[in-house]
Amino acid sequence: MSHTICAIPGDGIGREVIPAAVAVLQAAVPDLRVEWADSGFETLERTGEALPARTLQLVEGTAATLFGAVSSPLQPTPGYESAILALRRRLDLYACVRPVRGFAPASHADLIVVRENTEDLYGGGEESDGQRAVARRVITRAASQRVAHLAFGLARRLGRRRVTIVHKATVLPKTCGLFREAVLEVARDFPEIAVDEMLVDSAALRLATQPASFDVILTTNLFGDILSDLATMHAGGLGLAPSANLGDRAAVFEPVHGSAPDIAGQGIANPLGAILAGAMLLDHIGEHAAAAAVRAAVTATVTGPTRTPDLGGAATTGEVTQAISYQLMADG
Ligand code: NAI
Ligand code: MG
Repeated sequence: MSHTICAIPGDGIGREVIPAAVAVLQAAVPDLRVEWADSGFETLERTGEALPARTLQLVEGTAATLFGAVSSPLQPTPGYESAILALRRRLDLYACVRPVRGFAPASHADLIVVRENTEDLYGGGEESDGQRAVARRVITRAASQRVAHLAFGLARRLGRRRVTIVHKATVLPKTCGLFREAVLEVARDFPEIAVDEMLVDSAALRLATQPASFDVILTTNLFGDILSDLATMHAGGLGLAPSANLGDRAAVFEPVHGSAPDIAGQGIANPLGAILAGAMLLDHIGEHAAAAAVRAAVTATVTGPTRTPDLGGAATTGEVTQAISYQLMADG
C-alpha cells in the first residue's frame, strides 16, 4: 500500500536534515509520497503564522509527519508559540516516545522512554505571591490509561518484553499512586508483556549506569522529561537521537536536536537523528522491513568512515545521506 507523509523542515538545520531523511525514506520505500509543509520562525516572519492552517491539515490528514526543528525567537514575540508545542497541543499528541539505542560499540542500551505529555506539573498551572509559590500536579486516570495503552501497544508491536512504571508513589501516593494504579489496570490486557516498577531516583541512577537493564520505561510528564534527556546520553550524541509525538489523531516524528543556528547552512549537520526518526515513522505506518533496513544502514554508517564532524568525521550531510542510500540500494 502506498502512503503519503507530511515533511516539515522548519528552521536552521531542519532544512538540511529533513530533505536528507526524506531522500533516505524514498530510497527505502520507493512509492512513498511526500507533502511538504511550512512551519517555524522563518514561516512566521514571512507569513505572519508559525503554524499555517494548511500545515495542520496535512499533519492530521497524512499517515505521519517528519518534523525538523524550529527556532524560538530570542526576544519574547507576541503570538509566537513554538510550532512543535502548538502541534502537540492542537493535535493532542499525548505521548512522547524516545527510543535509545547505543550505537557506540561499548553501549548495550536498547530502550524506549514513553512520557505522558499533557498533564502533571506542566499542565496544572503555577501561582506565586512573591513569598510562596505553588504548582499544581494533576494526574488523571483517563490520561494515565491512554498513555499506558499506547505504551503497551507499542511494546506489543515492537516485540518488547517488559514495561517499567517509573514513579515516586512512596512520597506522592495520591498522584503517582493513581498513575501506577491506572497503568497496572491497562497492563492486564497485555499478559505477554511483563510489568515492573521503580522509584524515579533509583531509575535515574540505573538508567545512567545500567541502561541495558531497561526495555520500555513508562512515566509521567516531568520525570519523563528528565529521564528521556538522560537516556539520550547512551544514543551516541544529540545528532543521533530520534523521538516521536503520538496521539490518536496524528503522529509526528522528529530528531531530538533543535535548529542548531551555530552550524546551519554549512552542510555539516548530522542527518542520522532525522533519518532514525524516519525509521520510527516507517514502523508507525507498517513498513517494518524498510524501517529495519534504514536502521541497519545507519548502524553501518555510524561505525564506518563517512561521519559528520559531531561524530569525529569530516563528511557532509549529503555524503552521509548518500552513503545510507547506497547501503539501502545494495541491500535491496
Ligand atoms: P540544538 O540542538 O539546536 O544545538 C545544540 C548543539 O548541538 C549545537 O552546538 C549544535 O550545533 C549541535 N547539534 C545539534 N544538532 C546537531 C546535528 N544534527 N548535527 C551536528 N550538530 C548538532 O539546541 P539549542 O542550541 O539549545 O537550540 C537552538 C534552537 O533550536 C533554539 O531556537 C531552540 O529553541 C530550538 N530547539 C527546537 C527544538 C524543536 O524544534 N523540537 C528542540 C530544541 C531546540
Ligand atoms: Mg527536554
